[in-house]
Amino acid sequence: MTEITLALIKPHVLRNTYAMQQILSLISQHFTVLGQKEVHITKELSERFYAEHQNKFFYHRLTSFMNSGPCYALILQSEASIQKWRNLLGPTKVFRAVYSDPNCIRALYGLSDTRNACHGSDSEASARREISILFPEFKVALPDTLE
Ligand code: CMP
Repeated sequence: MTEITLALIKPHVLRNTYAMQQILSLISQHFTVLGQKEVHITKELSERFYAEHQNKFFYHRLTSFMNSGPCYALILQSEASIQKWRNLLGPTKVFRAVYSDPNCIRALYGLSDTRNACHGSDSEASARREISILFPEFKVALPDTLE
């Protein structure tokens, strides 16, 4: 089934031109990009985006980091895009990523569990919610694209 997902490239990767080129090239091989932009994630936006983690020990670290510099957000479309992008990312925890697949994005460009290179939506509902936060202008197109 054709799906859309939200990919978010975290601030330390955006500063690394080589990493950005590699990740954008990989994305172009696997997905149709329906939207892309550099975004400054304010603290408020970051707290909305990661609301489900607000009781976790890493919440403040994560929301502060996402607010520390520009990020790069993309709307990706393909068959099973949610799982496909998450497979390219590898496990959330970088040490697991390194052991499970040394060539996955998080193994190559992740620095820590917070600075784990990129984010990917974990479900259709999350994709809709996250896209509506970072691409409010895309809202109207969402239902059609998902059908
Ligand atoms: P992300 O895909 O952005 O979605 C939630 C984020 O929470 C996740 O990637 C990690 O950056 C962060 N996270 C999850 N577990 C931990 C952890 N144990 N320690 C620090 N950060 C974490």
